[in-house]
Amino acid sequence: MNQLIRKSVEAMSGYVPGEQPKGEDIIKLNTNENPWICSPEVRDILNEIDVVELAKYPDPLCIEVRKAIAEKHDVGLANTFAGNGSDEILALCLRAFCEKDGTVGYFDPSYSLYPVLAQIEELATKPVALDEKYEWNMPSNYSASIFFLTNPNAPTSMLFPKKKIEAFIKKFPGVVVIDEAYVDFAKESCMEFATKYENVIVARTLSKSYALAGIRFGYCVGSAPLIAALHKIKDSYNVSRLTQELARVALLDEDTMKAITSAVKGTRALITDELIALGFTVYPSETNFIWAKPPSPGAKKIFDELRNRSIYVRWFDGPRTKDCLRITVGTNEQMMTLIENLEEILGK
Ligand SMILES: Cc1ncc(COP(=O)(O)O)c(C=O)c1O
Repeated sequence: MNQLIRKSVEAMSGYVPGEQPKGEDIIKLNTNENPWICSPEVRDILNEIDVVELAKYPDPLCIEVRKAIAEKHDVGLANTFAGNGSDEILALCLRAFCEKDGTVGYFDPSYSLYPVLAQIEELATKPVALDEKYEWNMPSNYSASIFFLTNPNAPTSMLFPKKKIEAFIKKFPGVVVIDEAYVDFAKESCMEFATKYENVIVARTLSKSYALAGIRFGYCVGSAPLIAALHKIKDSYNVSRLTQELARVALLDEDTMKAITSAVKGTRALITDELIALGFTVYPSETNFIWAKPPSPGAKKIFDELRNRSIYVRWFDGPRTKDCLRITVGTNEQMMTLIENLEEILGK
């Protein structure tokens, strides 16, 4: 035991992000990045950077980019918050909305960061197990200080019914954080609940549909008091000067985002058919990744074999996840290479 480190931190293993392998021939389908090119406006801004400006701190309130968010969602500036990726926002929500003896709810399986964030804050967790179809039934009288509701869910890729979410929000006594990281690939969003109910935060990211994971920008929309609480506790300059400006122009260029997401959805449909033909059970995806159960020799062996061939997908150990693979939708070419390799591995 290292006496210099908080006991709870010593005891935890920490979040394990997907591998970031380097190399030219690698096919990286393991962290749900988007292989399409972001808005051309982003490149223009990068070409015009005045390095002298970089000597100054960024706007602590991120006003210009928040104006773009407010306009996009037709809400007030006071309903918007900008963060260093949506992961930062999820962490801030715990710190702002949970008492020391509070509890943190989320589905199992869902985004594996939530329990880690709870551990960091030494908060008790109250996960709700999804059923065998990855759908939910809340235990009667369920309560927690905060509930992270990932929609569409990860890693299962499926969208939960909006009506069911609204009914849950109405009954739930704490804050519901709807994590819509993948929603631009889905048929509907719950954004309207962010201003309709005072206990809702809807979190978004530019890492997926905007193909900008590298700039680290996320945002959320919610009732003014909740948003004000997040502003109180954030780092003064949590979003860099460059990121604020790149995110602003990307958000204003909805056309590029829509073109990117529709290309991803097209590839998603193709790869779904190919995987089904290879004997995979594919869950209906509303995201930029596919959650699928492979045939024999099973998920872990196929994951290892693909990795030996420099194709990286994601396998999560655990009773609810170990039989499936999570495969990010890459370019058509990458997906065809994946299919060819799977054919070889499966002897088809
Ligand atoms: C469900 C979910 N929420 C949030 C995030 C984090 O996104 P960001 O890159 O904005 O931190 C991810 C990233 O993979 C995710 O899967």
